[in-house]
Amino acid sequence: MTLTHAKNIALQQRAYQVMPLGVNSNFRFWGDGITPYMERALGAYLWDVDGNRYIDYRLAFGPIILGHAYDEVDQKVIEEIRRGALSAMTSELEVALMELIVSMCPAVEMARLACSGTEATMHAVRVARAYTGRDVLLKFEGNYHGFQDYTLWSTYAPAEAYGNRLSPIPVPSSSGIPRNLRDLIFTLPFNDFEALERTLRSFGEQIAAIITEPCQGNCGAIEPQAGFLEFIRQQCDKYGIVFILDEVKTGFRIANGGAQEHYKIMPDMATYAKALGNGYPIAAFGGKKEIMSVIGQGVAQGGTFNNNKPGVAAAYATLTLLREKPILKTIAQRGRRLMEGLKEIFEENGIQAFFSGHPAMFSFALGVDKVTCQRDWSLSDKEYYLRLVEAAIERGVMPDHDPREPWFLSYSHSDADIDETLNIYADVVKMVKRH
Ligand SMILES: Cc1ncc(COP(=O)(O)O)c(C=O)c1O
Repeated sequence: MTLTHAKNIALQQRAYQVMPLGVNSNFRFWGDGITPYMERALGAYLWDVDGNRYIDYRLAFGPIILGHAYDEVDQKVIEEIRRGALSAMTSELEVALMELIVSMCPAVEMARLACSGTEATMHAVRVARAYTGRDVLLKFEGNYHGFQDYTLWSTYAPAEAYGNRLSPIPVPSSSGIPRNLRDLIFTLPFNDFEALERTLRSFGEQIAAIITEPCQGNCGAIEPQAGFLEFIRQQCDKYGIVFILDEVKTGFRIANGGAQEHYKIMPDMATYAKALGNGYPIAAFGGKKEIMSVIGQGVAQGGTFNNNKPGVAAAYATLTLLREKPILKTIAQRGRRLMEGLKEIFEENGIQAFFSGHPAMFSFALGVDKVTCQRDWSLSDKEYYLRLVEAAIERGVMPDHDPREPWFLSYSHSDADIDETLNIYADVVKMVKRH
């Protein structure tokens, strides 16, 4: 099957005139002539403007947990927006949503809403700094916490730029990030107990917060090694540091209580967005009452759109469904089938592949046998990964172009979709050879 792309290419040319790179977020640009432009999406599928249908494993970078255009969510949104899309007052639905969030997320005693993951982490960082009276943050290489300047460091630099693993160099991920913010950040390899212990021994009392993704949803879904999250917890207690778990990708996806439930870890604060609203703009941050209570006591926090009705209604409907039905269990079962099937395909074809992550968001790194941090991951065969992805897309299966980005599954991905994906990948792996 050969897909046609004439309309995509023409729309990209138009888009170049009015948007940098012809897109509204850098990660959506795959290159000239190969960037897909969307026409519509339903369930597990997405159609581009040329009418090509894809089984969607990008799911908007993770938010679509139930499926695209999911009826029960959309109906609730429509019902609510007919009563006013936004107001500068708090609604009962909002209070009910916050009650749901608090009841589902083990470490969250109080929370506030925001509109995006970037905002959620930005607010959490302010609160942690205010609570501790300290300025410095610590994050891990390969983790991404949104586009705010404070944590946009060492997300995707070549590993050589990071220096020695016991005294890493923080690398800004963009021009335009103020140089002096470097004094406010430590970046360490994920899963490195020794580097963390040594850094905290010297600087622990200056650090306001350690922020981490529980599993590296922005770097090959690398899992925390046994005891690593617990070690962070213990070190935060030792030095009076706020532990922020960034659950923007894992929240309401790997378990109803997110990574806190899955890995049995209790951070001081947590951030959410993505699956919370099944695609509508809504986010949240929260944590211990004692910490969250600084808001309003000299700590500023707000946002005109924080309680936007489409987002609130979508989140309310999504969380209600997650609580009522074994949705995440079903996704995990199908995801496991997909992971196992892909593993077999690589094994049969003699290709080394290291799988990591959770069945609802997993990745594989090619040509390496173990990955515990971005430095390991950077040794994987990304060029081959991309050639496989491009061939799969031409056959109607769409994971992200970026090998750091996990494959995401939704409740709408059926067993038949998994079978179709495996058949296509088996063909692709046979056809596209590793050099
Ligand atoms: C772990 C994590 N935190 C924060 C963000 C930023 O979220 P948003 O794109 O909604 O601003 C992302 C986005 O991918 C993320 O994966």
